[in-house]
Amino acid sequence: MPRLPLRMPIAALLLAGSLVPAAAAADPPQAALCSACHGEQGVPTAANIPVIWGQNEGYLYLELRDFKLGNRRSEVMGAVAATLEKDDMRALAAYFAAKPWPALDQQAAPEAVARVAEAADTSAGCKGCHLANWQGDSTTPRLAGQQHDYLRATMAAFRDGARANNPWMAALLKTYTDADIDALAAYLAGR
Ligand code: HEC
Ligand code: HEC
Repeated sequence: MPRLPLRMPIAALLLAGSLVPAAAAADPPQAALCSACHGEQGVPTAANIPVIWGQNEGYLYLELRDFKLGNRRSEVMGAVAATLEKDDMRALAAYFAAKPWPALDQQAAPEAVARVAEAADTSAGCKGCHLANWQGDSTTPRLAGQQHDYLRATMAAFRDGARANNPWMAALLKTYTDADIDALAAYLAGR
């Protein structure tokens, strides 16, 4: 914060306070709980836990809402989201989206594996939605550099119907084999 002139009128002080950007506001009270699993520095504490630092804000909000509604089933996240109100979810989504995406240092997929993944993208048009460099936007998630094991598990869950909160992704992945999903997970994790 810049130093304020000593004799600044009260009204001006209040105005200055209201101009402090939201990102500088206090952390949402639940953030410490989230970090126990999603990582103090954004690196998740286990391979089946996704990165949420730097993920797109609209997507983070929708997933929290879906966990709470039970549209996306997860024992852990269902219990976490049950404690959150809409405003909490909005604040948490904004807070984590504003963080930098952490480097997980996952290796780039070997060329033969990348070819399988790129063929899937060409036929399905994944990047039509997930955008260039797999960064996504708004309610479409970033996939580049996401945790390998999580990507693999969540694509299999879409395909097998366990993750049913997006019928389009489920229908699309039904056409893929385990080998395709393995290739896509390795390729996306290493991007
Ligand atoms: C006990 C560990 C744990 C805690 C605490 C936890 N999470 Fe999670 N989170 C997970 C796991 C595991 C998943 C993957 C669930 C699945 O797909 O089955 C997940 C998934 C998510 C997702 C979906 C991400 C994606 O790419 O689809 C979001 C968003 C999320 N968590 C946000 C939060 C927030 C915000 C908090 C704190 C309020 C939190 N989590 C607390 C373990 C945890
Ligand atoms: C029509 C647009 C569209 C296309 C095409 C598409 N996706 Fe998606 N994808 C989405 C949306 C939207 C979501 C978020 C669904 C939700 O709300 O849970 C998603 C979610 C995902 C997730 C889960 C990410 C996470 O953090 O949990 C993965 C992985 C994924 N897509 C991979 C792919 C792959 C691989 C392809 C191509 C074979 C593909 N998608 C094609 C729109 C699309």
